[in-house]
Amino acid sequence: MGLSTGYKKIRTAVFISGTGSNLKSLIKFSKTNKSPISIDFVLSNNSKARGLDYAKKYDIKKKVLNFKNKNLSEKNLLSVLKVNKIEMICLAGFMKILSKNFIKKFKGKILNIHPSLLPKYKGLNTHKRALNNKEKYSGCTVHLVNARLDSGKIVLQKKVRISKNETEASLAKKILVQEHKLYPKAILKVFNL
Ligand code: GAR
Repeated sequence: MGLSTGYKKIRTAVFISGTGSNLKSLIKFSKTNKSPISIDFVLSNNSKARGLDYAKKYDIKKKVLNFKNKNLSEKNLLSVLKVNKIEMICLAGFMKILSKNFIKKFKGKILNIHPSLLPKYKGLNTHKRALNNKEKYSGCTVHLVNARLDSGKIVLQKKVRISKNETEASLAKKILVQEHKLYPKAILKVFNL
């Protein structure tokens, strides 16, 4: 990733839109000795996101920007990230698409977790589409973010077997458990640790 781990942890922001269970797992990981990152900022496009409670609980700076005017929200966001000396971004259930311009400013330093085995099922409703297509497996992917949706270089994936009576909800739950393990592993891999 071209970031030096040195002895100081890399100041990282996590962007969320909802429950924030991946945020929680990243915060826990960041507090371990082996973590190359610290979580110093949480951004949500949704003021009602339950994940914002974790920022409060762990005393992490947070901001809500609604992205209704993407240009303006991103401008505001870039300046607040700069003030907070953020060097890396982890998208964790963030349901807005960042602009090319924003991504360029953090080139190679934005990671995303997606609930499918990319390049299969980019975008929304991944579990529904995997079930409709009678897939035997699904899973999750951590990848670098580039200007094309869910298309950046894959860092790590975890495969999950789809059982006979699988529902969207049961599959989502099963995959989420794996996501919580995969994201920290992918971060270690990105830093060659
Ligand atoms: C996770 O399954 C994540 O992979 C997915 O949203 C969920 C968020 O859960 N992300 C996407 O679909 C991004 N396109 P969380 O808020 O509990 O971490």
